[in-house]
Amino acid sequence: MRIFVINGPNLNLLGSRQPEIYGTADLSAVQEKLEDLASELDIEVQLFQSNSEGEIIDAIHRAADEAEGIIINPAAYTHYSIAIRDALQAVKVPAVEVHISSIHSREQFRSISVTAPACAGGIWGMGIDGYCLALRALAGMTARERTPETSQ
Ligand code: DQA
Repeated sequence: MRIFVINGPNLNLLGSRQPEIYGTADLSAVQEKLEDLASELDIEVQLFQSNSEGEIIDAIHRAADEAEGIIINPAAYTHYSIAIRDALQAVKVPAVEVHISSIHSREQFRSISVTAPACAGGIWGMGIDGYCLALRALAGMTARERTPETSQ
């Protein structure tokens, strides 16, 4: 099983960007944590970060053929990218939306996610641990899909 982890704009600056909000761990620390958990769960994770909307959409499209699940932190695009929402809806791959910070306790515009309705679920405010929680959720979700129901 392969999971795409897609990170949006400015998340390449994780670790130095507003550490009081996003913490001091950088994206390579996220990758390390995810890879440790992924090997425990016997899953492959592929991390991707882009500051461009089109590249994020292309990664979501690729997931349709190459992955069983998507973890996405669309960053600021969360709040206005109908194009990313459409891409998530177009591919039949379950997605979990992650936000490192508590988007519901910050500026009001951050509490609106136009992308969340295209996702199976979401995690916010748990720091970078949110990515691992999302991985566990997706692993459970896809395992259930693969297990045929017993008729009793
Ligand atoms: C974020 C929250 C967004 O509002 C913000 O634009 C980001 C990061 C988060 O992970 O908390 O870039 O998605």
